[in-house]
Amino acid sequence: MIGHEFLHSPGPTHIPDRVLRAMHAQPLDFVDARLKEIARTCFADLRDVFRTSGHVFVYAANGHGGWEAALSNLCVPGDVVLVPEVGHFSNSWADHARALGLTVEVIEGDWRHAIDPHEVERHLRDDKAGRIKAVLAVQVDTGTAIANDIPAIRAAIDAAGHPAFLVADTIASLAAMPFEMDAWGVDVAIAASQKALMCPPGLAILAANDRAVEMSARLPRHQRYWDWGPRLGEESYMKFNGTMPEQLMFGLRAALDLIREQGLPAIQARHRRIAGAVHRTVEVWGEAGAFSFNAPIREQRAVTVTAIRVAGGIADRIRTHTRETLGVSVAGGLGALGGQAFRIGHLGDINEPMILGCLSALELAFIELGVPHGTGGVRAAIEHLAAERASPDGLPA
Ligand SMILES: Cc1ncc(COP(=O)(O)O)c(C=O)c1O
Repeated sequence: MIGHEFLHSPGPTHIPDRVLRAMHAQPLDFVDARLKEIARTCFADLRDVFRTSGHVFVYAANGHGGWEAALSNLCVPGDVVLVPEVGHFSNSWADHARALGLTVEVIEGDWRHAIDPHEVERHLRDDKAGRIKAVLAVQVDTGTAIANDIPAIRAAIDAAGHPAFLVADTIASLAAMPFEMDAWGVDVAIAASQKALMCPPGLAILAANDRAVEMSARLPRHQRYWDWGPRLGEESYMKFNGTMPEQLMFGLRAALDLIREQGLPAIQARHRRIAGAVHRTVEVWGEAGAFSFNAPIREQRAVTVTAIRVAGGIADRIRTHTRETLGVSVAGGLGALGGQAFRIGHLGDINEPMILGCLSALELAFIELGVPHGTGGVRAAIEHLAAERASPDGLPA
């Protein structure tokens, strides 16, 4: 294909050239001071991104590894965890917990609405024996493109007077939307490198507070690779339980520099602005009846990904056509939304021209495939962006 290909999946995401260039380097010796400095500064900067003074852990792993790291340090087989269902990723996390021998209680959801904190509170109040060890909540379920109110879930746990740990999956949200680990009372947060952190897949990144680390230290046994204990010291080799994934850390260092230069408020304003443009476009496309938001409530729509339901079972046809003939990849529906929806990722290293290119390519595909859609969707996105960029807190970044 001539020209650039555009990746608009909600992860992996586009990688900035500066990150790619930083990774194009020979490995360093274990004891090289430059390597130690990269590790030290990355761990420190990650604390700032999670907004915590707690402990950060980095694993050579993907997001599933991050789930396993968190669960292995808080729970042993037979423990009970509570999973409010939001979509494919809340449910996969629940499956992962079951596979580790945990008992999972699920608060059923309809995949179209955010976690109801009152349901969480009710469930915890009913747990008179205090069997539930942790509540596992996704901040953004990438499968359904729904964002959850993490502080409200903390408030629900507190209102129930329950000691459960709050574990937040911030894999599809960290850096792109507000997350205040300490201020919100999150005990463990899980992220992954390939989303708004703008790196390749391969790093699972966790933050844990003292209470969580103390629980880990009290567990009778650990799966050694995930164990926080040996990773707590300053020795960079032990922080990775072996050889550091060096090139990924070089990339992470460059990505954290970009995040620091732009600043979290500006990054988050950009994500809101771009998500707003996507949402305006989908509203217009939906006027002809073929498209609708998976999340009907505007405030529950994620700023990192939008899931669009498509009537007539043609979601995958649109996706394939857009990828194969225009070089623009959007993601498909997952789980119950398989074949019913497509998802536009708009997180990480993304700007206005990139999202307008994606939306325009989709509109071109609708025309070529004869899919009915309201006209002027891209124009609506442009107008939204113009208004947002002109507003005093537009903070172009
Ligand atoms: C919210 C969320 N949790 C977990 C995962 C799993 O991450 P990975 O595919 O890196 O294992 C993903 C992946 O897209 C995700 O979006």
